[in-house]
Order: sequence, then C-alpha cells, then structure tokens
Amino acid sequence: MLQRALAEINVFKDPNVLVGFEKADDAGVYRLDDQNALVQTVDFFTPVVDDPFIYGQIAAANSLSDVYAMGGIPRFALSIVCFPADKLAAEVLHEILRGGSEKMHEAQVAVIGGHSVRDPEIKFGYCVSGLVNPQKIYSNSAAKPGDALLLTKPLGTGIITTGIKFEKTSDEIAQEAIEWMLKLNAKARDRMENFPIHSVTDVTGYGLIGHAYEMAHGSGTTMIFRANEVPVMRGAEKLAKQGMLPGGIESNRGYVGQSIVWNGVSSLRQQIMLDPQTSGGLLISLPEEEAKRLAVELEAEGFLGQQIGCVSAFKETHIRVES
Ligand code: CO
Ligand code: CO
Repeated sequence: MLQRALAEINVFKDPNVLVGFEKADDAGVYRLDDQNALVQTVDFFTPVVDDPFIYGQIAAANSLSDVYAMGGIPRFALSIVCFPADKLAAEVLHEILRGGSEKMHEAQVAVIGGHSVRDPEIKFGYCVSGLVNPQKIYSNSAAKPGDALLLTKPLGTGIITTGIKFEKTSDEIAQEAIEWMLKLNAKARDRMENFPIHSVTDVTGYGLIGHAYEMAHGSGTTMIFRANEVPVMRGAEKLAKQGMLPGGIESNRGYVGQSIVWNGVSSLRQQIMLDPQTSGGLLISLPEEEAKRLAVELEAEGFLGQQIGCVSAFKETHIRVES
C-alpha cells in the first residue's frame, strides 16, 4: 500500500541507504560503518486474541520478526499505542504493555520510549531498531535457481484468529496457534548464520504466496511449491471450511494477480497458502544440498524445517503451485 502511495514522490537519496522502501523488503537498512548497519522496522495491528497480555506478547514477537528476517539482531524499540482510554480500563493497557515488555525481555531488546494516542480501536506494536553486518544482509530478492525453499512455521493464524473472533475456534486449537505466534524467529536467524543463505523473508500479512511472490519477483525467478507439503496448523482447514476466512485471503490473491499458476490445487489449499499470518515463520531460500542440514538445526530449536518447494529460472509466472 505504502509503496504505491509513495510513487512519484521525491524521496531524499542517501548513499548509506542499503535497503530502501523501493525494494519491498522486510525492513530498511542504513549503513553506519563498514561493520555495522542499522535495521529499522515498524509494525502494529489490532488485537488478534482476547487476552491483552498475550496480544502484547504477539505484537512484540511480530514486530521483531522483520529484523530477524534481514539477518539482524534487534537492540531497542519504541512502543506505538492506540487506545480508547475513555471506554476501556487502564488495566487492559497495562496488560498489553506487560505482555510486550516480557517478549522484548526474552529477545534482549530495550524499550526506550514510545507514543500513544486515543483511538476508538486498540492498536499496538513497536518500531524496532537492530544491527546487521552489511555483508550479511538477507534480502528478499536474491533467491537462485537450484535453491530449496524451507518454511519454519505452519500456516493458518489468519483463519484461526478469525475463528476466535466468531467464537468458532476451540481453546486447544487457539492455544497451539498462539504458541507459534509467540515463538520468536531469533533462534532460526542464529542457526542460519552458518549456512550459505541466498534469501529470506518472514511470512506475514501477504501470506505465504504473497511473500513468495515478492521474493520470486525481486529475484527474477519462478518458485515452485508443492501444496501438499505445506504445513498447516491443526484446526485451520476445518475452520476455513466453516467460512472463517479473513478478507486478506482474497486481497492477497489480487496482489499476486496473474503471476501464479495453480495446477490442480484445491480451493481450500489455496486459501491456506494465501492466509495472512501474524508473527509467521521464515521462508528461506538456500542451495538444495544444504537444505537438509539446516532443517535438522531448525527442528532442534522447535521450528519446522519443512521443504515446501524449490526455485527455478523464470518461466511464464513467478509462482507455480503443484498439488
Ligand atoms: Co516481513
Ligand atoms: Co516480475
């Protein structure tokens, strides 16, 4: 949305900007010196669960994710709070902030300030600053033909949280999805350090297919997925069949437009692969021969190391999904 709105607006060009908005990458990167660059990102959203403490934790984990996806280590953050102070108890906001603070503590990130406004609708998140070695930035536009594609968390948070809103999601199913959303991508980032990684992005609002499309387009390649290999959270398919479909699914389909071929893939699988994720996993592109070894290391940290597809030279469309 922002990229289109910024079109034809004259933006100041600074040679130290290593990654700017025009690249549709996960975060901006600014060179400080030869060894250090600042990774900068901001993310905030409306509640995805009922419990304010858990919502705060998820918002924090989600806001840190883009820094990890760039290969960076988050260092400090500023909170962004929109809150209906006239309608809700101060205790609710306290719980949101306590949740956020606990997650930032786990990530060893200092919260050094913030900004709050009165708003009829709650929104919460952070502006996060991290550091990265300028030679070791994981862009989302450097996938290469011959790469394998790994996904580190199952899909389905958009469908499951929609089910929570309509009271269709059981506590057990909600709990599993919450555990995944709370899981920081930090250790996946650490494990990647010893591998010849080509490209990484985190799977969030555009869904697996939307973020894969950005990666394939940016890399000038075609990504081929096997729909049946894609990991799905328990309960998500059933909820999708009950109509618990977030609006993001169809807008994500529109975002990818004509640049996709679905080869005999059921509409249910398509919905899962387009489902907008909150605090989703990483989509990692690396040489096929290294993929199994990284998968083992990711699994040792409690992530999935699921190989869901591969990268080939560009042919007709950026995304191809086989059943
Ligand atoms: Co991202
Ligand atoms: Co293209």
